[in-house]
Amino acid sequence: MTVPMGGSTSTVMNSYPTASMIGHMGTATLRDTYGRVADDLRISITDRCNFRCIYCMPAEGLKWLKRDDLLRFEEIARLARLFVERYGVRTIRITGGEPLVRIKVEELVGMINEVDPTLDITMTTNGVLLREKAQLLKDAGLKRINISLDTLHMDRFHEIARSDAFGRVMDGIRASREAGLWPIKLNMVVMKGKNDDEVVDFARLARDEGYEVRFIEFMPLDGDNIWTNEQVVPSRRIQEQIEDLFPLQPVADPRPGPATRFKFADGAPGGVGFISSVSQAFCTTCNRIRLTAEGGLRTCLFSLQETPLRDLMRSGVSDDHLGRVIETAVWRKEEGHLINQPGFIKPAKNMSQIGG
Ligand code: GTP
Ligand code: 5AD
Ligand code: SF4
Repeated sequence: MTVPMGGSTSTVMNSYPTASMIGHMGTATLRDTYGRVADDLRISITDRCNFRCIYCMPAEGLKWLKRDDLLRFEEIARLARLFVERYGVRTIRITGGEPLVRIKVEELVGMINEVDPTLDITMTTNGVLLREKAQLLKDAGLKRINISLDTLHMDRFHEIARSDAFGRVMDGIRASREAGLWPIKLNMVVMKGKNDDEVVDFARLARDEGYEVRFIEFMPLDGDNIWTNEQVVPSRRIQEQIEDLFPLQPVADPRPGPATRFKFADGAPGGVGFISSVSQAFCTTCNRIRLTAEGGLRTCLFSLQETPLRDLMRSGVSDDHLGRVIETAVWRKEEGHLINQPGFIKPAKNMSQIGG
């Protein structure tokens, strides 16, 4: 069957998942109707944040989840075990809001690490608490880290993150490096007229310090509804600016990911990546699924509905039951997002409530 959606066509499998889902070593895989396998789980552990980035949160007025509504660490660890042991998930990324505002997050990292110490356990953070937390996270089993940094100017930082913590974020990046959380990826959401004149400076930073800087197209998931297509800077424009000074060479990635990655052709350390969610969606190779802080399973950043798992778990269901609910939800994963097309509907949740 061929289903047109998002301006493209794809082949859809008709039947419900069966034994064909059994992958190597007897592990089942989480497969959807388009044949994609979900093996990368993003777990949001709080909707709260100590910043108010303009591309993510409203300045004020966002209602926080109640403590009891958040998945407890034991519940997250149970789900992590199920996803890893039963479904072969290999990457677990802890996100927020800002994950480091959740007390004792390093204990959760330790619990996930116990599930399988060879897992790629990673975190996306705004970096402001890393000065205090980097070493604890490393000791608990965190393998690497992605840190948001949208500008190298303190005054702009104040404008974009609506926070004065620029110096602390820079300290946090250094602390992560000293703790051995490596590689470090720096995430820059590029917005026209706000920070797009800094892309070459960020490429230089990557070369000087060995970071991988990722230039991310602004997506319509902000909290103030300020997104317009005019503010999106297409990745190819950024790439051209960088290549004028620093020619790039593609890096082949063994696993699918949102970034098209490059190293510097002259052999300088570090590299750059382009996350082109708007200009060149990568939905056809998407291997991600998401858990929200309240235990909703989301099969796409732009999903309009979630599969609630928290109350199911609290009602005492077995792993088999939970697994069937998860399999069904993933099987129905959307083909992709429709940004810039007539059918696009912005999800009711903003980025901080989904987890990035
Ligand atoms: P690694 O490549 O494994 O380091 O992770 P990542 O790049 O997926 O993680 P990160 O949290 O740093 O995400 C960087 C940007 O990519 C953020 O803006 C995310 O919202 C975006 N992103 C991550 N996954 C997806 C996805 O499935 N779809 C879209 N459209 N964007 C995504
Ligand atoms: N568009 C693109 N990226 C975003 N992020 C947050 N909001 C947006 C948005 N509207 C990024 C942050 C963080 C990651 C989790 O998501 O920069 O690094
Ligand atoms: Fe907080 Fe990250 Fe959203 Fe900024 S992008 S407001 S740091 S959750």
